[in-house]
Amino acid sequence: MNHPIIIPILTSTIEATDIKTITFHYPGDVLPGQFFMVWIPGVDEIPMSVSQITKRVKGITFRNIGDATRALYQLKKGDHIGIRGPYGNGFTLIGKRLLFVGGGTGIAMLVPVVEQARKKKLPSTVILGVKTKNQLFFEDRLRRTGTTVLVSTDDGSLGYKGFASDLAKEILQKEKIDMVYTCGPERMMSSLLSYCKSIPFQASLERYMKCAIGICGQCCVGKGLRVCLDGPIFDGATLKKVEDFGIYRRDAAGRKILF
Ligand SMILES: Cc1cc2nc3c(=O)[nH]c(=O)nc-3n(C[C@H](O)[C@H](O)[C@H](O)COP(=O)(O)OP(=O)(O)OC[C@H]3O[C@@H](n4cnc5c(N)ncnc54)[C@H](O)[C@@H]3O)c2cc1C
Ligand code: FES
Repeated sequence: MNHPIIIPILTSTIEATDIKTITFHYPGDVLPGQFFMVWIPGVDEIPMSVSQITKRVKGITFRNIGDATRALYQLKKGDHIGIRGPYGNGFTLIGKRLLFVGGGTGIAMLVPVVEQARKKKLPSTVILGVKTKNQLFFEDRLRRTGTTVLVSTDDGSLGYKGFASDLAKEILQKEKIDMVYTCGPERMMSSLLSYCKSIPFQASLERYMKCAIGICGQCCVGKGLRVCLDGPIFDGATLKKVEDFGIYRRDAAGRKILF
């Protein structure tokens, strides 16, 4: 598990501007919310959450944002990548009336847990928050699960005009939600946590990772919580005690980067 397996890319699909899904054969079990370390030969190894889970095939969905993701974006069907993992804890599916709030590429990793919830026939609403309508992806895939899908755009080009967390606040005031799941920009997730009050909450965090197996300490948040091992999914009670949640992350050199 801690050594990469080298495998060919099975499919490579453009989902929206600068967003791609690639799939690969991976017959092992993976839980929604877990992540792989993806090695792009000659470039880097980066964490990527699983966005597609079938028995034999798994997928990741990512934004072309920097050196590693740019190189990954260029790869085609048949090109090879290294995969190690899966790592992390994954979501715990609890509650009877669920709200999922995804922002940007955070949408991708929420889809498998929505699909899991819908297989159990749990009523759910999903908010997809993007900056502008051409960044929207996985809307049809989510609608096919029978979940209620709402879209928010920062610029108002589609759906609700504003942040996904603001739309979520309105829903939390109107509907009887008993569990909130989120992944997206950390400031959005920390606002959402403050709106949830006593409603249980699970959020997926991203931190710069090196080992992904709890040894190097690079991904620590709060008082020594390792995102790679203790997370990446943390509950609301834990996050309320993490002083850096929604405030800053650390870069590869350990410098604080404000959100
Ligand atoms: C557990 C986990 C799961 C992840 N899952 C996904 C996923 O499913 N899809 C996806 O697109 N990305 C995901 N990421 C983030 C992804 O790993 C980074 O975007 C990637 O490492 C960027 O690498 P790069 O070399 O392309 O960019 P870099 O050249 O390293 O950075 C480019 C820009 O992106 C910023 N950046 C880099 N990493 C992060 C980060 N972790 N958070 C915020 N900003 C960052 C940098 O500050 C810089 O401005 C995940 C991260 C973690 C920790
Ligand atoms: S990445 Fe090394 S401890 Fe988490």
